[in-house]
Amino acid sequence: MLQELDTIQVAATEALTNATDAEALEEWYRATLGRKGNVQQLSRRFGEVSAEERPLFGKRVNEIKTALQQAFDERSAAVKREHIEGLIAADALDVTLPGRQPRRGALHPSTLVLRRMTRIFGDMGFQVYRSPDVVTDEYNFEWLNMPPEHPARDMQDTFYTTQENVLLRTHTSAGQVMAMREYHPEPIRVILPGMCYRNEQITARSEIQFHQIEGLAVGTDITFADLKGTLTEFARRFFGRDRETRFRASYFPFTEPSAEMDVSCMLCDGAGCKLCKNTGWLEILGCGMVHPVVLRHGGYDPDVYTGFAFGSGPERIAMLRYGIEDIRYFWGNDHRFLEQYS
Ligand code: PHE
Repeated sequence: MLQELDTIQVAATEALTNATDAEALEEWYRATLGRKGNVQQLSRRFGEVSAEERPLFGKRVNEIKTALQQAFDERSAAVKREHIEGLIAADALDVTLPGRQPRRGALHPSTLVLRRMTRIFGDMGFQVYRSPDVVTDEYNFEWLNMPPEHPARDMQDTFYTTQENVLLRTHTSAGQVMAMREYHPEPIRVILPGMCYRNEQITARSEIQFHQIEGLAVGTDITFADLKGTLTEFARRFFGRDRETRFRASYFPFTEPSAEMDVSCMLCDGAGCKLCKNTGWLEILGCGMVHPVVLRHGGYDPDVYTGFAFGSGPERIAMLRYGIEDIRYFWGNDHRFLEQYS
């Protein structure tokens, strides 16, 4: 019996070293020190031991129980520690690894140009006036001196909504009468940035949607000289002091007289190249003195008030400035294009 006790102790101690996780430890405990474990079972066979050996047997049982319990506690602590160390090692941060560059967002080239233009006109005292993309026919055409049969209203060019008389503005000029009706009879100096829509074939040179920035000044002594001065200063600040500008007579139903403004070509410096089609000049905007009919629709007496207006396309201007050859890049969402201007 004493022999058997020794064998159990040796085997149990040995088995304990093979228990490498909490489950195995629990199993070992059940088989060894638990109520039905072999140490317990053997100790119950007390009666089989001869009278003189009993005290020794009892002593040994207790010694073995204590020793195995202690070995179990130590092993449990070690397994727990190993488990935690394993977790730490698996999760370890290698501080010598190179960092990961966070991806940085950037502003769209149209936004950049819009902001630069807004800033320049802002410095000159123009406030931003927000007007809606969806307007009635009157704001987009009729009150801008384009009667129903006017060729500029060609169905081909306009996106109509299902609601009669309601359409997507084809130009930011649609906001002119809105601003006038809000401000009159006070003087006005506003710019109207926004998206415009035209029902056209999409090509390298024309998109169905594009931005415009409209400018509108109304007051009691505004002349064409103010228009020229304002736009010339804008062009110098935007394109550089050494750029030349010129005004060419033109036609718009809502301005009289009307003009288009050119800047000397920034690619060839006016010598003539592919970009300026050998003219040396690039057209950047349309402008003119607000037509008396438009002033009246806005609530201003054209015998007392005058004003000027202009409209430019930021995408077009960006194309000229950065030599972008295809307007479709602007809404193509190709990062390789967009990232170049950040
Ligand atoms: N609305 C005109 C266009 O879209 C531009 C313009 C605006 C011309 C204001 C004159 C005055 O082409």
